[in-house]
Amino acid sequence: MKKLVLFVTMFIMVLPVRADEGMWFLMFIERLNHRDMQKMGLQLTAEEIYSINNHSLKDAIVQFDGGCTAEIVSKDGLVLTNHHCGYDAIAELSTPEANYLKNGFWAASRKDELKPKSLYVRFFVRMDDVSKRILSKVNDKMTEAEREKAINEEIALIEKENNEGGKYTVSVRSFFQGNEYYYFVYQDYTDVRLVGTPPESIGKFGGDTDNWEWPRHTGDFSMFRVYADKDGNPAEYSPENVPLKPKHYLPVSLNGVQENDFAMILGYPGRTNRWMPSGGIEQNVKYAYPAWVESSKLGMDKMKVHMDKNDKVRLDYASQYAGVANYWKNRQGMIDALTKHKTAATKAKAEAEFNKWANKPGNKEKYGNVIATLNNYYSKTNEKARHDNYLVGLLRTSAFAALPYSMGRGLDAYASADDAARQQILPQLQAAIDEYYGNLYEPLEKDVLAAQLKLYATKSTGYKIAPYVAKIGAEYNNDFKAFVDKAFETSIFTTKERLGEFILHPSLEVLKADPLYLLSNDLIAQYRAKSDEQAELDAEFSRAFRLLVQGMREANPDAKYYPDANSTLRLTYGKVRSLPKDKRNDAKVNYYTTMKGEVAKYKPNDEEFDLPKKLLEMYEKKDFGRYADKDGYMPVNFLTDNDITGGNSGSPVLNGKGELIGIAFDGNIEAMAGDVIFDKDLQRTINVDIRYVLWIIDKFSGAKHIVDEMTIVK
Ligand code: ARG
Repeated sequence: MKKLVLFVTMFIMVLPVRADEGMWFLMFIERLNHRDMQKMGLQLTAEEIYSINNHSLKDAIVQFDGGCTAEIVSKDGLVLTNHHCGYDAIAELSTPEANYLKNGFWAASRKDELKPKSLYVRFFVRMDDVSKRILSKVNDKMTEAEREKAINEEIALIEKENNEGGKYTVSVRSFFQGNEYYYFVYQDYTDVRLVGTPPESIGKFGGDTDNWEWPRHTGDFSMFRVYADKDGNPAEYSPENVPLKPKHYLPVSLNGVQENDFAMILGYPGRTNRWMPSGGIEQNVKYAYPAWVESSKLGMDKMKVHMDKNDKVRLDYASQYAGVANYWKNRQGMIDALTKHKTAATKAKAEAEFNKWANKPGNKEKYGNVIATLNNYYSKTNEKARHDNYLVGLLRTSAFAALPYSMGRGLDAYASADDAARQQILPQLQAAIDEYYGNLYEPLEKDVLAAQLKLYATKSTGYKIAPYVAKIGAEYNNDFKAFVDKAFETSIFTTKERLGEFILHPSLEVLKADPLYLLSNDLIAQYRAKSDEQAELDAEFSRAFRLLVQGMREANPDAKYYPDANSTLRLTYGKVRSLPKDKRNDAKVNYYTTMKGEVAKYKPNDEEFDLPKKLLEMYEKKDFGRYADKDGYMPVNFLTDNDITGGNSGSPVLNGKGELIGIAFDGNIEAMAGDVIFDKDLQRTINVDIRYVLWIIDKFSGAKHIVDEMTIVK
């Protein structure tokens, strides 16, 4: 008996389930979580959170442009999300003369709201379990490829059955490493317009220095509005469109937060890997992430030199730079946290325990090889992981790594076609050229490309690099700058004008000898290449990983499990919770920050810590209106112990009544191991206090009409 208990605890270490841990499916809240949530302070019924037939909380939560979360906060389709989620759209709508990123923006009326080129929000309609249906199509004798094929065929059917003639987007996803399947029905709206944003000095206050850190003082929010046709259906942009009348929108609470208050978050967490084996963690810490970090930093440094010299270049590259910088710091934080907490060793211990169970008679045939297979996979792919991360770093930071490949395919079709067909292809080609070349800055691109090629060619040791890159390296003695200079002199891909020339005088011969085209094709081919040996390793791995999860659950039938994040809607609940007192924080208890701390960080004209004059003056006068805390201070950010990850950015933080109290926007660096192991002592969500958001809109920006549109409760 004793042994059994010990055994169970070992597994609980792998997947401990406590109130604060877990990204739960809405359809199971009633059964798995509702009683627990009620004890903690929830006053809503499960049906009020998720209902298929009636309007419920879930109708106010949207996925924002594919990568973030947002919430509907008025009967006229107002959308609230993070500043860093709206960043790309805000930068796109800005010019050096009308610089909304720098100075902020508030539409005085609906007709002044700004439509970015492409931005969509996705409403969640319903979900259901199709595990039995899908898994009935497969058996243990199938190869992984056969299995995948059978599953994909069934998925295609399910998607078709549920999309109501194209009205909905249906997505079937695998959970628990292919042990369960669910489908999700969504409705997308593509006319989404910018309503307002604070200046970057507020929305991104603290910059990359404060990113992923607590204590924090960032007004990380921006506002949009969803438009629909007059019947409320999704519609392409049109001046005739009207604000969407949502099924549900969130009331906003001015009551503020106290330590231990119930807090729940609904949103679209992107990816966690809580079942990741120890070998995977080791691979990431030693091979993958160091390459990722090095390549990101190199790209950032090269970009920044040019961004600092020119406002237009800064705007054109701001969003890309911010994205690279965000994950540069994240990955370094993961290396540090996983190393410090010896996460791989913790997992290895649990795997050893599992291996004992797996080799018992009765289990052995199915599970006996699982751990050995996983370990074999990682030991054989470490060098590839390093190589792939340098290659991906190159593709992520250099436009000319992938652009000639994609543009070249269009040019190839064009050059190969007869006159009539050319006339048909031309408009599309021209549109693509205009889109891509409008914002490219050649000196920056040359620097990034040369530096990244060199890093990739010289650091991907232990794995065969892309053949054309190897050839250039040998020819130019790894002086990739010399290669890039020369290639940019002769390539047709460097400017819009040269591409225009090519279109006038198309020649397949010229295209196929173009050095940037050759390079780009080589890089993409390398990125996609998969040797037979690798394909086999991958197949063995996916089977073993699926069995690991299945076996661990079988060995532990009474535990409550939640699936890893995969960009599907989840709920996490917990409470407002401090971290141990931090002397950098001015607040009495370390679960919130105030404007006092914000102003203390202020550095005039600093790129990260500058603040608007007006904000400083209003702070001096304590001009906080009804938004101050009852103790008189102006709250800025607060902490909860919810379980979130990237993709949850912009998610609503709700009190027990389902009222909005904040917007989630970050995690803390100490808990960066959280995506593979949840640490209940360390892991926190960093949120903007909704009172600060309202104060910025109403008092600081003078956009009271926007606050008046919301339902404020006190
Ligand atoms: N760390 C935040 C996230 O991944 C993004 C914060 C953006 N702010 C910044 N200073 N880069 O959701």
